[in-house]
Amino acid sequence: MNTLEAIASRRSVRRFEDRPIPRETVEAILQAAIQAPSGKNRQPWRFVVVSGEKRATLVKILLDAVAEAKSRGEDAGSAEGTAHVMERAPVTVFVFNPIGTDPWAPRSVDQAFQELVDVQSVGAAIENMLLAAQELGLGSLWIADVLYAYEELRSWLGEAGQMIAAISFGYAAERPAPRPRRALDETARWL
Ligand SMILES: Cc1cc2nc3c(=O)[nH]c(=O)nc-3n(C[C@H](O)[C@H](O)[C@H](O)COP(=O)(O)O)c2cc1C
Repeated sequence: MNTLEAIASRRSVRRFEDRPIPRETVEAILQAAIQAPSGKNRQPWRFVVVSGEKRATLVKILLDAVAEAKSRGEDAGSAEGTAHVMERAPVTVFVFNPIGTDPWAPRSVDQAFQELVDVQSVGAAIENMLLAAQELGLGSLWIADVLYAYEELRSWLGEAGQMIAAISFGYAAERPAPRPRRALDETARWL
């Protein structure tokens, strides 16, 4: 599979087979992540791999945070459904920016710019992981809904810095149709 084929055939997968992923395959995906470009080569990423029985705790933490948000009358978006996707995924990788600050922390303009750059670098690492997974025959789901349990998950995972996202991986048990995309002429212009 070449890169353009991997880009074109990748889908967000939300149903996974009940089949573990070999450790070497997860390591190959992480190797792809750390080869991403990064601003000033800061490589502002740390990964925490959750698999096996730890998944149940992860899902409970997210579902408890969703229930708490709802009890306060807040909207928890798609987080409940996403938690159930994560429940069935054999591996979920969390991505942190170790030099990032909490979203609510006051920051200087310089720090804000650095974080803008660093989040781009982390996005590149995540996309590398999705494309590597595609090449290796795995489905994946990029997940921002973990932010609903930002403090709870960060403390359980024992990571300092800024929690950015999680990505679930597994052997796909569905073949989703492509989601619509805005046409190129709506999204790009040539000066
Ligand atoms: C930054 C980011 C965050 C996302 N967060 C979630 C999420 O929390 N839950 C979920 O089900 N999908 C999530 N997605 C997947 C998107 O819904 C999906 O990429 C989009 O609908 C396009 O579908 P496709 O990936 O199959 O092309 C996320 C995607 C991105 C890039």
